[in-house]
Amino acid sequence: MSVTLDDPVLTLVCPSPQALPKMMSQVVTAVEKRGLCILEAWDTQKQTLKTVAGQMGYIMNHIRGDEDGIVDVAYQRSWHETSQSNNEIRKEDFQSYSSDEVPPHSDGAALDGMDVIGDRIVQIGPPQIVVFQCVEPAEAGGELLLVDMKKVLVDLLRDRPDIARILLEPGCVSFCRDNQFALDLPVFQKIGDRWRVRAHCDNRVFVTDRSAEAMQILFDEYINQPQYTDKILLTSRQILVIDNYRILHGRAAYQVFGDRNVRHHRRLWVASDRLPIFQNFQGEVKMKRAFEPYQAYRIVTSLDVPVPYPICCGIPLNDEEREWLVCAEGGF
Ligand SMILES: [Fe+2]
Repeated sequence: MSVTLDDPVLTLVCPSPQALPKMMSQVVTAVEKRGLCILEAWDTQKQTLKTVAGQMGYIMNHIRGDEDGIVDVAYQRSWHETSQSNNEIRKEDFQSYSSDEVPPHSDGAALDGMDVIGDRIVQIGPPQIVVFQCVEPAEAGGELLLVDMKKVLVDLLRDRPDIARILLEPGCVSFCRDNQFALDLPVFQKIGDRWRVRAHCDNRVFVTDRSAEAMQILFDEYINQPQYTDKILLTSRQILVIDNYRILHGRAAYQVFGDRNVRHHRRLWVASDRLPIFQNFQGEVKMKRAFEPYQAYRIVTSLDVPVPYPICCGIPLNDEEREWLVCAEGGF
């Protein structure tokens, strides 16, 4: 197995819900420094996933989620009986839940809209954190594929500043998925003091004449090269917390013996507790039809309840790397 994450992923054993608060600062530190952390929880219940995810931000719903936003990632379970899915949704627009490989990507790349929650208008974008709970691993294969985009960005800045420059420009990439558009984005977007990644390589992605070659190089020479990919096999009760602004995730193919398709993960999206809140210029809070697609991704958690352990997500760069970035953006 290649090792690009400098050390093994930190795994914290949490024997009970009562022990969780003591461990959360270690989880936050690991995710802020490395982009991910594994918490080995006390059971495989849905409530455990909700409890852990809710420590770090606002839980988001998903168009295939149940009433708590939880998506089952399992063959034939991924279209949940209680989900908001209906026949109008194009299933092929969502990840395959066969046993095939799923290439590395960031979640929610096509999300860029608004939702009205009470008297507030909040921005709905990609979740800052994706949390996976392993209920049962596959009998063979099915590892999570993880790509640290900090390493990709730093290598690009040092070795291919011409390509990095295009990937840092607004207008590089646009997305269309199901009933969502997200237009004219950079792959690496500066948000606060860090850089946020939106990346996908399937037919939801749109490029321009200027960015097409740079995007091809990004995937062919970096993301899809084995030295950038780590494989992690979660075991039952383990919960993987991923910084979705920094770490791409995918899944290796897995074996199904007979009809025993046992692999079962659950997934939850977590939004930042510093979500942009908009005001209408004329002070009106009125529903518009354009808001409707984003209601399926509504924040489930009350915005009035403080988040116990907020996390700062995205790619951090040190002083030397920032100098490279200034050179790349300036074209030397
Ligand atoms: Fe995903």
